Amino acid sequence: MPTLIVTTQSGNQREVTADAGLTLMEAIRDNGFDELLALCGGCCSCATCHVHVEDEFLPLLPPMSADEDDLLDSSDTRDANSRLSCQVPFTDALDGIRVRIAQMD
Ligand code: FES
Repeated sequence: MPTLIVTTQSGNQREVTADAGLTLMEAIRDNGFDELLALCGGCCSCATCHVHVEDEFLPLLPPMSADEDDLLDSSDTRDANSRLSCQVPFTDALDGIRVRIAQMD
């Protein structure tokens, strides 16, 4: 089971595991990080699953869709490491990925 290391909005860090095959959003939420609101349930329409992915893992992620890109533009905290976690499959290749839950606007 791959691991992920999640940093909360307040800076606490925790290493957790989740089943490959979930989305990154589900992997985070299923481990009790309720501050990742994911209000639309993964339909790419809310941007409340916004995370910042550490540099070294960015090349491992699937390309961003135009919808994800547009939605991220609505966030004041967007940066070059931003992704919507519901749009990222959590796979074994991402074992050890480090993400930080974005501050919500
Ligand atoms: S959960 Fe709404 S865009 Fe990801």
